[in-house]
Amino acid sequence: MKERPIRALIVFGTRPEAIKMAPVVQALRGAADDFEATVTVTAQHREMLDQVLGLFDIVPAYDLDIMQEGQSLFEVTSRALTGLEGVLREVKPDIVLVHGDTTTTFTVALAAFYVKIPVGHVEAGLRTGEKYAPFPEEINRRLAAVLTDIHFAPTAGARAALLREGVPSASIYVTGNTVIDALRQVVRPRSVFHKPEVAAAVASGRRLILVTTHRRENWGEPLDSVYRALRRVLVACPDVAVVFPVHKNPRVRQAAEAVFAGCPRIYLTEPLPYGEFANLMANSFIVVTDSGGLQEEAPALGKPVLVLREVTERPEAVDAGTVMLVGTGEDRVFTAVKRLLDEPALYERMAAAVNPYGDGRAAERVKAALLHYFGRGPRPADFYAVN
Ligand code: UD1
Ligand code: UDP
Repeated sequence: MKERPIRALIVFGTRPEAIKMAPVVQALRGAADDFEATVTVTAQHREMLDQVLGLFDIVPAYDLDIMQEGQSLFEVTSRALTGLEGVLREVKPDIVLVHGDTTTTFTVALAAFYVKIPVGHVEAGLRTGEKYAPFPEEINRRLAAVLTDIHFAPTAGARAALLREGVPSASIYVTGNTVIDALRQVVRPRSVFHKPEVAAAVASGRRLILVTTHRRENWGEPLDSVYRALRRVLVACPDVAVVFPVHKNPRVRQAAEAVFAGCPRIYLTEPLPYGEFANLMANSFIVVTDSGGLQEEAPALGKPVLVLREVTERPEAVDAGTVMLVGTGEDRVFTAVKRLLDEPALYERMAAAVNPYGDGRAAERVKAALLHYFGRGPRPADFYAVN
């Protein structure tokens, strides 16, 4: 007799989780004989999440709609946890799939544990080893690991970190990062930019610095000092423009609007749809960011990345030479950007495209690993980076 499909409940809440889980949703939905995939969103993010759901044509079966303006970690955690109980009891999944390191990630894993349903963690094993950096993501990811039954590590390094923590080798699959699967779906050689300010920046022919910021540990003076550094770059370099799709977080918006007021060649925009953002990255000269996902995407596009942090849980592209950690100090950021603008040899060294994070087939490996876990297929070969 044919076995019934595996009931997989996929839960996420923020923009990056949605981007990185979309390929997994696609892969499981493309295997309807084997999987019944139900998507639930906590909606820790709202507009920024909905942009991604629309792009990938994902209609969640359940939407907890928890986002509130300026929400605290306590609010996100408690509202998500409470909302999840009913979903878990109604869907009765065979496995709950979570992604990454957000408060949604940890909370969903905890909720699944409370009803004794196994957890699969996509993008498992990234570590800085520092409790408060990034905050609260390092600990969210570690807590999720403790609650996880099947770990999808994107790289061999992430696998090694899990092994060091005593995670059984048999429960770890090295899949590559699904962000590269998503990126490959949207980057096109000739891209159209719908936002007038973005189109104007690209059409200007200037060298573009693409900026994003949002990390909690950078709120306040660190962000102000990064913005002051970029303002100095704009004043010093007339052939340069900064495009900055500003995160919806009010703490980030207020700071950016205040420091860049009256500054030349700064294009502040609303968050861009993923396709438009990825293509803008492909048209940029340098990326300056504190984001996690951009540290994975930009190297694949051959764009040097200056990371506004002292430590990263994504060391592979630092080792490959495409990503440099520059912290948030005004002079250090200014000098790092100026050097990349002024020193072609340095720029060329950093602009070599590298793909330590994936080959575009991570979601297929996640699917195969799930089939293996449930005794329905062979163990998939691990992802190995070629450079
Ligand atoms: C969250 C995650 C972080 C992840 C980041 C990706 C936590 C604690 N933080 O940080 O790990 O890297 O998302 O972007 O899990 N807002 C809107 N509309 C939106 C999204 C956010 O208005 O679509 C505003 C709201 O005022 C909200 C605030 O941003 O209260 C903060 O959102 P929140 O999810 O709590 O934190 P992020 O800084 O976005
Ligand atoms: N991104 C986007 N539009 C934007 C800015 C970023 O689609 O205006 C994408 C980006 O390509 C990456 C993800 O959002 O895939 C990163 O999200 P964020 O920096 O908010 O979170 P993090 O990766 O740091 O968790």
